[in-house]
Amino acid sequence: MAELLLLNGPNLGILGRRETEIYGTDTLADIEAAVAEEVSHRGWKVVAVQQDGEGELVRAVQGAYDTVGAIVNPGALMIAGWSLRDALANYPAPWIEVHLSNVWAREKFRHESVLAPLACGVIAGLGSLGYRLAARALLDRVAGS
Ligand code: DQA
Repeated sequence: MAELLLLNGPNLGILGRRETEIYGTDTLADIEAAVAEEVSHRGWKVVAVQQDGEGELVRAVQGAYDTVGAIVNPGALMIAGWSLRDALANYPAPWIEVHLSNVWAREKFRHESVLAPLACGVIAGLGSLGYRLAARALLDRVAGS
């Protein structure tokens, strides 16, 4: 069965009770269920990983080379997550970077992502809908599996 990697970085495990005015009220479990729903008709299974530590995220990417694609919200690792960036550089399938908030409408330190140049697309500012849209985009990108 084809698998889609859903990778969430630091502080995203507490969605639903984290600065809800910025990140919304959906929990990570809600988001994982929404992504699973989006891809189920294609027979894809979602492998969901959330870790606060960069090393664990790197290992999750290294262990997911067989997945058909990935949705990655790196959280603050977008700013300087160089080892996550290098792990994704060797990830063989298309992946999309997602941010719940519009990072360019926020503090300057969030305006650049070291990962984004490697992603096939970036979705930001659409809340949890962004994950669904990323799933749809990957369904479109990954033809035939
Ligand atoms: C975030 C944006 C990041 O700047 C922040 O550090 C997060 C969440 C988002 O989803 O909007 O942890 O990735």
